[in-house]
Amino acid sequence: MKEIKPEQLNQNIIDLIGHQWMLITAGDSADYNMMTASWGGMGYLWNKPVATIYVRPERLTNQYINRSGRFTLTFFPQSMRPTLTVMGTKSGREYDKMNEPTLTPLTLPSGQVAFQQAHIIIECEILYKDAMAADKFTDTTPLQNWYGPEKGNLHNIYIAGIKNVWINQ
Ligand SMILES: Cc1cc2nc3c(=O)[nH]c(=O)nc-3n(C[C@H](O)[C@H](O)[C@H](O)COP(=O)(O)O)c2cc1C
Repeated sequence: MKEIKPEQLNQNIIDLIGHQWMLITAGDSADYNMMTASWGGMGYLWNKPVATIYVRPERLTNQYINRSGRFTLTFFPQSMRPTLTVMGTKSGREYDKMNEPTLTPLTLPSGQVAFQQAHIIIECEILYKDAMAADKFTDTTPLQNWYGPEKGNLHNIYIAGIKNVWINQ
């Protein structure tokens, strides 16, 4: 993996997150959990490169994120799509994610965990957390479409500083 500056990322972020998907991972090599995500963003805030993720409180990964205050984002080649589907449909509560055979953990210098199969790794430290609230939707269509007893709880929003970026050339 080659380290690059966040500004050197030359991918379309909407395509990268929304269509290629990512794994959000939190914890350390002894105890971590990850989940697939396709909702999120990257940009610039408080004069820093930042990543924003949206995680429902019922995700096991949410507990790991809150405990550690940081997370990694791993992006993969298309060949890893089946793995991302598994990580997005099974919870670490029911499936031994740390022993997933198609993923080789990679411990970063900070102690955070990402994966050797990565195409891009982004290491993040949380700066701001908020929870979506039903009364703050100015258009209630997403509220009706995505939330409720059958669909899930309102997302937590995490804005995190991007500390390091690596790409696999
Ligand atoms: C393509 C895809 C995208 C997803 N994006 C998100 C997301 O952005 N936020 C979220 O909370 N859950 C998202 N999920 C659902 C979680 O990945 C899923 O509930 C997972 O099983 C949670 O695992 P955990 O309980 O081990 O954390 C997505 C699932 C898939 C398949």
